[in-house]
Amino acid sequence: QKGGYKHFMLKEIFEQPKVITDCLAGRINMQDMSVQLPELESLAAPKRLHILACGTSYHAGMWGKYLIESWARIPVSVEIASEFRYRDLILDEDDVVLSISQSGETADTLAGMRRAKEFGATIIGLCNVVGSSVAREADHVLYTQAGPEISVASTKAMCSQLVLLYLLAMHWGRQKKTLPDDVRDNAVKNILALPTVLETELPRLRTRATELSRLYSASHSFMYLGRGFQFPLALEGALKLKEISYIHAEGYASGEMKHGPIALIDPEFPTFALALHDELFLKVKSNLEEVQARGGRIIALTHPGLDLNVTDPWIIPELWGPLDSFMALSCLQLFAYEVADYLGKDVDQPRNLAKSVTVE
Ligand code: M6R
Repeated sequence: QKGGYKHFMLKEIFEQPKVITDCLAGRINMQDMSVQLPELESLAAPKRLHILACGTSYHAGMWGKYLIESWARIPVSVEIASEFRYRDLILDEDDVVLSISQSGETADTLAGMRRAKEFGATIIGLCNVVGSSVAREADHVLYTQAGPEISVASTKAMCSQLVLLYLLAMHWGRQKKTLPDDVRDNAVKNILALPTVLETELPRLRTRATELSRLYSASHSFMYLGRGFQFPLALEGALKLKEISYIHAEGYASGEMKHGPIALIDPEFPTFALALHDELFLKVKSNLEEVQARGGRIIALTHPGLDLNVTDPWIIPELWGPLDSFMALSCLQLFAYEVADYLGKDVDQPRNLAKSVTVE
């Protein structure tokens, strides 16, 4: 069942290229470069969107916010479902709620959806499990088609959620005429090429993750840093590491370091940074210089040719625009996996955790 892999988590990480292909199947019309989402045919682009989710799905939602706001110019709030469900909400019939859940059975996400319904909001479910409660109770359902995810640590499900959020941003961007044609064409062309690129790279990424895991697995705490699209990924990297290796890890927006967390930095407290080639690279670089000035060791995911002097650079190929996140996500997953496996942890069944959290 594990297809020759030692754990389901590793198998599922390596399935991601196929997952992307499956998510895209039948979704793109090459004639006019449009996205096909018949599930949303009757729904106009929302004036305001609220994304509701927990854990890894919440991080996917945060990533989606950056893209939907940029391509479709729709204001998006991303809400932790357990907070949303008990808040004094301000919603009406014009609001659209996007509930993201791999399992479709997460109690808090379901409760949040039900509350939003009481206000007359339209609910879109983005889930993986066909016929799940989220799918049954939503007004519109988008399936991620990632196949069964066995490992408690979610990997390929997040990858598939990012693909659907990317398609949604394109779809609404086209409806609202906010997505320039050249960006749309690049978005289509490059995501279609992504599975092959990722498939070729994954073995190399794993080798580097293994090397780094040997150097860093004795650490008791980690800081994960990123900005922009890489900020939700920093949160996700920290979540993956803590849930399967039991090493404390915090994800932060790099710009927040100076507001407190930098006090933690010393030679025993390493940082895992996302320092990719985007418009915020120089800002991240200067944040990392502050870490180094305090003796902090740094692993930095970065791109070829960038001027960055850190303890352990992890140079990955540069992709188009937001697609860099897919490569970075795999690195974060593989690093957590290799650390946990090296430490002899029960990777697929981490202590105290269940695959789907059906209680409050
Ligand atoms: O099934 P869901 O996407 O609703 O699950 C949400 C979280 O429980 C889930 O993502 C959890 O954080 C994972 N164990 C993370 O790897």
